[in-house]
Amino acid sequence: CGIVGYIGELDAKEILLKGLEKLEYRGYDSAGIALCNEEGISIVKEKGRIADLRAAVDVTVCASTGIGHTRWATHGVPNRTNAHPHQSASGRFTLVHNGVIENYHLVQKEYLPAVSMNSDTDTEVIVQLVEKFVIDGMTTEAAFRHTLSLLHGSYAIAMLDANEADTIFVAKNKSPLLLGMGEHFNVVVSDAMAMRQVTDQFVELHDQEVVVIRKESMEIMTLDGVKIERAPFTSVIDMNDIEKGTYPHYMLKEMYEQPGVVRKISQAYEDQKGELTLDVAICKALNEADRLYIIAAGTSYHAGLIGKQYIEKIAGIPVEVHISSEFGYNMPLLSEKPLFLFITQSGETADSRQVLVKVKALGHPTITLTNVAGSTLSREADYTLLLHAGPEIAVASTKAYTAQVAVLAIVAYVAAKEQGKTVDFDLKNELAIAANAIQTIMDSKEEMEQIAHEFLEVTRNAFFIGRNLDFYVSLEGALKVKEISYIQAEGFAGGELKHGTIALIEEGTPVFALATQQAVSLNIRGNVKEVVARGANPCIISMEGLAEVGDRFVLPKVHALLTPLVAVIPLQLISYYAALHRDCDVDKPRNLAKSVTVE
Ligand code: G6P
Repeated sequence: CGIVGYIGELDAKEILLKGLEKLEYRGYDSAGIALCNEEGISIVKEKGRIADLRAAVDVTVCASTGIGHTRWATHGVPNRTNAHPHQSASGRFTLVHNGVIENYHLVQKEYLPAVSMNSDTDTEVIVQLVEKFVIDGMTTEAAFRHTLSLLHGSYAIAMLDANEADTIFVAKNKSPLLLGMGEHFNVVVSDAMAMRQVTDQFVELHDQEVVVIRKESMEIMTLDGVKIERAPFTSVIDMNDIEKGTYPHYMLKEMYEQPGVVRKISQAYEDQKGELTLDVAICKALNEADRLYIIAAGTSYHAGLIGKQYIEKIAGIPVEVHISSEFGYNMPLLSEKPLFLFITQSGETADSRQVLVKVKALGHPTITLTNVAGSTLSREADYTLLLHAGPEIAVASTKAYTAQVAVLAIVAYVAAKEQGKTVDFDLKNELAIAANAIQTIMDSKEEMEQIAHEFLEVTRNAFFIGRNLDFYVSLEGALKVKEISYIQAEGFAGGELKHGTIALIEEGTPVFALATQQAVSLNIRGNVKEVVARGANPCIISMEGLAEVGDRFVLPKVHALLTPLVAVIPLQLISYYAALHRDCDVDKPRNLAKSVTVE
């Protein structure tokens, strides 16, 4: 979910709506705004996108204070009733919330037995509790802080009190939230990008902090009311990076940016002599670790699987890769000197963050590999490695994935050199070759459109197979297709499909096979024969030097370890066109959000 709030002298509604449009990547099943002026609070909520909300907003209502929300449903189906803002029984208090209140049933039973709830959300309890404590005699600020002290879970909150039109009450715990400052106005926002059009001055908020925001002041305090001073930072986001430009979709724009991103990464990790390098402290941490634990979710997890190969094969450091939502509760036996590497495009994924909090408490060193400087996981880890991919807006990750793979290759390469190991290739040169190869594949996008048309237009399901590094790319290719075209797609290790899942192959079932790995090239081709014998429609994507007659697409040759950087590109494009042909919303697929800030 995403939150915005504005208090100042201008018309709040346009600023809120524009902000919500930029936050839509965080959830887009329903949205709402509350505007507060001398006449009281007016709320508009709609199921659907911000465009639906915009259409419903009364343009004649003028207010210089307001809050807004775009939702990714957790508790309660996405409908207008469950959309935020939520109001207290009397209508005096109005609140938007991102996060999950784990004990909402308990507090509701204990403190609000007689209050009937209007929605199925965990959020409504918060606003009803504030009203209860105000009725009991507390000031709004005291009631707000007291309420928060009773809650377990995650929250980023902005609240209005109809009796104090000049104030927004804000709180944060585990869910991301920033304050923004300007001349005669202040804002609150889940991501600086969404308020970059009004300011570049932002103030971080930490967990369990409360803020009372007015037009000319921001008072940050602890839950106990102890005041905190914090200096603002300047956001360096370039507005041009977050516009779609002439591209029909952000996803296509971001795929096109990939060659540039790989080149930029190479430069960003270069020392004055032009050699690839890492921060001294990160090198030291890598040198001292006896095992690296990679923690990630979704696409970042797939990049992590490739990173394991790189770091083990090039640098000789043992690596485990774990899904973040499992790791926190099912921790494996740790080595004596573990080092944790969190891979997260957004730097906000709650599943990954809960692991970071746990391993930090155990005293282990941590690194975050992220695209967003200043994001929660970046701030909270000991060290940060940046992706330099520029903002990624499309929900389906493309350029962040290639950036993750490229940086992981650099980590492995530099770690190996630091340890005095001989590395028999020049990674900088190989990355440059890979960047050119990505460009060449992007230039063949019509071919990918044709493949999507032939293989995915009418199918119910699809399989992606590969061996070794190609297996991990198959997982990512299948995820892309699932995410945006809603075709049931599965990625498999080439040899594994026959152990059960081959039962699903029918006449015409599309099977995409990657054949970029010389050592297993014959084996994967054998696996293709097995599925063809059962009626599958195969699409073999191979690489120069390994190609055979009948291969559907041949990738330009790159270094054997960097094949994931190029093999993923046709799969991204095929999934893009499959989604377009099926009339799916490419940039905002159903049920998903780009940054999932609940566990
Ligand atoms: C969400 C997105 C995925 C993404 C995953 C991890 O589920 O829909 O595309 O891969 O989160 O995100 P992160 O920002 O941690 O890489």
